[in-house]
Amino acid sequence: MNRLTRLHVVTSLVWFAAGSVLGLLLAWEPSRTWAYGFGGRPSLTHVHFQLVGFVTQMIFGVAYHVLPTLSRGSIHSYPLGYLHFFLVNGGLLLFGAGFWWGNLDLLLPGGGLLLFAGFALFLYNIGRSFGQA
Ligand code: HEM
Ligand code: HEM
Repeated sequence: MNRLTRLHVVTSLVWFAAGSVLGLLLAWEPSRTWAYGFGGRPSLTHVHFQLVGFVTQMIFGVAYHVLPTLSRGSIHSYPLGYLHFFLVNGGLLLFGAGFWWGNLDLLLPGGGLLLFAGFALFLYNIGRSFGQA
């Protein structure tokens, strides 16, 4: 397993734990009322922690391992892979906070943009990796 894969897989498990704790907070009173008290939609923080932080990122990690092997090539650029990692995880942190606090001016659009940029970089990197095979 390469380092990039390990980094994505381990981090995805951290988001899974964080997203599940948040889910539990939303399932119980009075923690549910507390979480909604910040004025945002913490259920959407929970959703993106689980579906982007855990599920999508687990797929990123596995893709960085499996796809180049299948195409008998290598990853186009490891540095781009690390940049993709930091964009997605930094973006998700801001994005999750933006939903939770209902911060529509900065955190939500800023985090969303970083997330999107991270996704685009992944597409590019994996696409070029296939091209090298
Ligand atoms: C211990 C694990 C989990 C707990 C306790 C939990 C709890 C909850 C609760 C309480 C809600 C309703 C939130 C609200 O309306 O305020 C919810 C919504 C949701 N959860 Fe989870 N969840 C867990 C794991 C997961 C996982 C693993 C996923 C996906 C991989 C997931 C995906 C979703 C989605 C898509 C919604 C709908 C949110 C929406 O559209 O408003 N959850 N969850
Ligand atoms: C660039 C990345 C992404 C951005 C900017 C983004 C943005 C958003 C926004 C703004 C909403 C709230 C929509 C509303 O106002 O109701 C939302 C909801 C949601 N997103 Fe994302 N999202 C992204 C990626 C993803 C991915 C990769 C998944 C799943 C794998 C996902 C699953 C969901 C789900 C399940 C909901 C809740 C839908 C609902 O119950 O109303 N998102 N997303």
